[in-house]
Amino acid sequence: MQGIRNPIVVLDFGAQYSKLIARRVRELNVYSVIAPYNLSADKLREMKPAGIIMSGGPASVHQENSPKPDPEIFTLGVPILGICYGTQLFAYMLGGDVARADVREYGIAHLEHDKNAKLLSMMESPTQVWMSHGDRIETLPPGFESTGKTENSPYAAIADIERNFYGVQFHPEVVHTPEGMKIFESFIYTICGCDGSWKMDSFSEIAIKEIREQVGKRKVLCGLSGGVDSSVATALIHRAVGEQLTCVFVNNGLLRKGESDLVRRVFQDNFHINLIYVDAEKRFLDALAGVSEPEQKRKIIGAVFIDVFEEEATRLGHMDFLAQGTLYPDIIESRSATGGPSAVIKSHHNVGGLPEKMNMELLEPLRELFKDEVRELGRELGLPEEIVARHPFPGPGLGVRCIGEIVRERLDTLRDADAIFIEEIQKAGLYDEIWQALVCLLPVKSVGVQGDERSYEEVCSLRAVTSTDAMTADWYRFPPEVLQQVSNRICNEVEHINRVLYDVTSKPPGTIEWE
Ligand code: XMP
Repeated sequence: MQGIRNPIVVLDFGAQYSKLIARRVRELNVYSVIAPYNLSADKLREMKPAGIIMSGGPASVHQENSPKPDPEIFTLGVPILGICYGTQLFAYMLGGDVARADVREYGIAHLEHDKNAKLLSMMESPTQVWMSHGDRIETLPPGFESTGKTENSPYAAIADIERNFYGVQFHPEVVHTPEGMKIFESFIYTICGCDGSWKMDSFSEIAIKEIREQVGKRKVLCGLSGGVDSSVATALIHRAVGEQLTCVFVNNGLLRKGESDLVRRVFQDNFHINLIYVDAEKRFLDALAGVSEPEQKRKIIGAVFIDVFEEEATRLGHMDFLAQGTLYPDIIESRSATGGPSAVIKSHHNVGGLPEKMNMELLEPLRELFKDEVRELGRELGLPEEIVARHPFPGPGLGVRCIGEIVRERLDTLRDADAIFIEEIQKAGLYDEIWQALVCLLPVKSVGVQGDERSYEEVCSLRAVTSTDAMTADWYRFPPEVLQQVSNRICNEVEHINRVLYDVTSKPPGTIEWE
């Protein structure tokens, strides 16, 4: 079994996509690691890589300080795949000519290629690819041949079969290159000879070892929310350092029905984790009294959370690390595609703002994982399905679903309606098909007839979406009888709601949460 030995090493040349490349490799059950571009050839040799992928990056090979690898890596006898800048780099370093293109090739292109080329043989020709590069290869280095071209790039794919060096100018890792996975398959299975036997248990093994090395005998503090990410981070860190971990769970009064019991049952009773439960409901609700404006609500919830968390941390004495369940998409989302500041749509509240204030080192063991990988890891660590398979829930909780003023009675109404919606989705066997399902309580009243009586009560809106990353989403097409059952139950069983709507807005233009 290949397992964690002989990884594919992704040399990172500053590309936003290098982690995506590593992920694509892992999707093929081959272990991949990201290494800095200038890792020495000796160090690389020690890692015994099955193959090396040189990622793209924003630089030009002609810039004086552009990132370049140790030239000795070309003598290791290990197969290399270059992507975009990675390809230009080895073309340049191995004796080819690379020029600045007059026109930057950016966007969709059509690759025509030699069907016999080892790297490309699984793809159709022509096939759609995604280009994003300024420089272009003018003359190939000795030993190389062109295996594919696009309208603007005669050397869109190149190969030196003798040395097992392959390069593409386009980005096979992005979804706009629909057959891109076939390039990775050819490279890692056929060219590098990997067997695809790597699984999540190998990840947890490595992660546990790394956490132990990083933490040593020191202490870790973790904010546990009961969501998938912080739960998996907690279980992983606990497996690594046991009693050295203390978790703080803040009940902000904006949680779902039964949530604080679930968290205590799983983490305190089953895992025996040091868990400090803080009931701060009154504090949050007092601070939110009279506030309806969404951003103001988010800011208040964030600020009170930081205060409460800090007080608890102070009570515990000095802690060395602050653990967070940051995922890879959180990292991508927090920087815009151009590297510039992106527009703030909603000020996200996680444990953000804490690290700067608290003088602790950050421990983020999930930062290279995607949501589905985190779920798999959670299962591997023995977390129950009700936590691992749970839909995402925002940090500010029901605060962003209770539209208008937040008061305890309205939150109770919302909690009851939400619990019925989720229960019916589960009963219908649809829970895992849906990315997220939620109920919003609207600041509107409507007239109805309940029994023989006139009623004048609140309105709620159901929302359920499908998505792969929450960046875009589509509304879920329920069988009508499910919606009917949910609506009947909510109107009959939940006090103060007499009308139920279904939200049919995609993201964009809507967002998933209403606020
Ligand atoms: P939107 O509403 O922006 O949400 O389409 C995208 C995803 O992010 C979740 N969300 C949050 N998660 N802190 C979080 O941890 C937040 O402040 C927050 N706001 C939204 C939302 O539930 C959806 O999954």
